[in-house]
Amino acid sequence: MPKDRGIDKVDAYFGDFTKIIAERIKRKGRVRILDAGCGYGVAMMGFVKRFGEGVEMEGYNYSRNDGDTAKMKEQAVEKGIFTEKELAKVRNLPRIIYCDASKRLPFPARSFDFIYSMASLYLYDDKIGFLEECNRILKKDGIARISPAFLGVKREKTPEYYRDYWEVFDKGKEVKIWNYANRIRGVRAVWQNRGNGDKPMYIELTGRHKIDFGLRLVSSIDYNFLWKEWAGVKSIYTTQSEKSFKPKWKVK
Ligand SMILES: C[S@@+](CC[C@H](N)C(=O)[O-])C[C@H]1O[C@@H](n2cnc3c(N)ncnc32)[C@H](O)[C@@H]1O
Repeated sequence: MPKDRGIDKVDAYFGDFTKIIAERIKRKGRVRILDAGCGYGVAMMGFVKRFGEGVEMEGYNYSRNDGDTAKMKEQAVEKGIFTEKELAKVRNLPRIIYCDASKRLPFPARSFDFIYSMASLYLYDDKIGFLEECNRILKKDGIARISPAFLGVKREKTPEYYRDYWEVFDKGKEVKIWNYANRIRGVRAVWQNRGNGDKPMYIELTGRHKIDFGLRLVSSIDYNFLWKEWAGVKSIYTTQSEKSFKPKWKVK
């Protein structure tokens, strides 16, 4: 699985995102940006190259094996983002930490101006929990754009019922997550026609309102544990709240 997408992919995936960032830097001087699931940190280094000390970049990975500072520096030189000499002078080197993004994110509330995430959400057990956490750590005027894994895997050998990354039940009826998400205040699921039919591009959140999807995680299935060649995690949600619901089989 590729872990070296660069800032060119941020430009391609997230519409006018980097333009908004450039404008914000002009206005504020410096912005804090999180790369959620940064891999080798190539995109973060691209931001430093493009915006200099106008950005303070932070990224996380699940583990060191997915990318650490040494790998990030090595890749930045290998991909021609910086020469070794230039790299030695960079004062705002991105910081990489390690965490499980399905749990509470290890950042204070309202600490980022921007968050982006490429090819990472599909691996999380609790995708909605992550989106709500992004909303918590975004500043009031902050924006997050996340590649949403709406469509799931296409591999022919994966059974059909293990191809989707989302299952959402709204009052007992299965609904598409992008339709559901678009009904939530402060959330936008953005699609773009790329010639081969409509494709979901990103899910956008802002820090303006407190976002509550009203969904409870029932279960998640890590496809990789079922078969080594299968990738991603299906997360199953319901609008049925824990408090108001008593499973019949548990009632005495
Ligand atoms: C396919 S790589 C993508 C890396 C990079 N964003 C890119 O597009 O090149 C998936 C990334 O998600 C991170 N990741 C996967 N599951 C995670 C979890 N539960 N918590 C935190 N990070 C996770 C991995 O550490 C890895 O960096």
